[in-house]
Amino acid sequence: MTRAAITGVASYVPEKVLTNFDLEKMVDTNNEWIISRTGIKERHIVAEGEASSDMSVKAIEKLLKQTGVRADEIDAIIVATVTPDMLFPSTAALIQNKIGATKAWGYDLSGACSGFLFALKSGGSLVQTGHKKVIVVGVDTMSSIMDYTDRNTCILFGDGAGAVLLEPTEDEKFGIIDDILYLDGSGGDALYMTAGGSRKPASQATLDAGDHYLKQDGRSVFKRASKDMAQVSVDILNQNNFKAEDVAIFIPHQANKRIIDVAASRAGFTDEQVLINIDKYGNTTAGTLPLGLDEVVRENRIQDGSLVLLAAFGAGYTWGSTLLRYGPSRKA
Ligand code: UT7
Repeated sequence: MTRAAITGVASYVPEKVLTNFDLEKMVDTNNEWIISRTGIKERHIVAEGEASSDMSVKAIEKLLKQTGVRADEIDAIIVATVTPDMLFPSTAALIQNKIGATKAWGYDLSGACSGFLFALKSGGSLVQTGHKKVIVVGVDTMSSIMDYTDRNTCILFGDGAGAVLLEPTEDEKFGIIDDILYLDGSGGDALYMTAGGSRKPASQATLDAGDHYLKQDGRSVFKRASKDMAQVSVDILNQNNFKAEDVAIFIPHQANKRIIDVAASRAGFTDEQVLINIDKYGNTTAGTLPLGLDEVVRENRIQDGSLVLLAAFGAGYTWGSTLLRYGPSRKA
């Protein structure tokens, strides 16, 4: 059976760094509280005028250079994001034009922190039905929807983008093996942004009310994320008859170090098996998983054929896990 294989990965974070000490000057918070409650030390923030498509293009340009693939060879571009440059045209269309992917079609997909898993599923299906080269992007410019006077949320999020190249393989040593994906809209009132859509179009009233900012009931999300990201990580291993020790690297969504620890310990992973980079980037929403994958590939923590487990939980609620064997990596 044809499987979709990840044959390359690259990422980009903006230059500007916002540290916990910078935030101490902006809201009533402190470095110790942020580190002990979340694990975050700093996050990257876009420059003025820089948006999700710009970060995505930087990641994709690296990806194409590394893999030796030309932009005009790409069949489709799928972009997971909750912070598109604008409502329409899609960020995928903006990227297609900027990189010159003359043959590609594509679309944006809104799955919040689980968006990259949803987009991998989507891209994988395209590969299994005949597409030869699909680019899947996870990107968010969370600083564009942050209220930097709200200490409950502004300390958590950062900006970043990651992109993978999906290609077909018949070789069982590689490719996406399985996924489990969920959507539970009853959690919609715990993490959301109400304005700017068709329900509450932008107006002076929405601006005055701060409705263009992300709002979160942190404790509710924390409880569900801890329970469900752990369970879905255990379930996908059991469903495929793998044990924790078979996994080379567990890459969980980076929302809170304490949520990661719960999932890692429930699934039985050692510290060495778990990718943690929340200290450097905070929560980049759809960006966390491809940023993490790029890091473990660059640091040689995995090789072609390594078993990788991705897991996420986020707004919606959305959550899920994807099990794959990395590679065969394409070198330019
Ligand atoms: O990726 C999308 C999914 N999102 C998540 O997974 C996030 C899930 N939630 C969380 O990570 C955590 O709930 C937070 C990090 C947001 C908050 O941590 P917590 O341990 O749940 O803290 P809390 O909300 O229960 O607040 C504890 C105390 C409160 O003070 P009182 O009421 O006990 O006096 C807060 O007002 O900490 C206070 N607090 C802060 N103090 C210093 C809240 N934010 C801050 C802050 N600095 N930034």
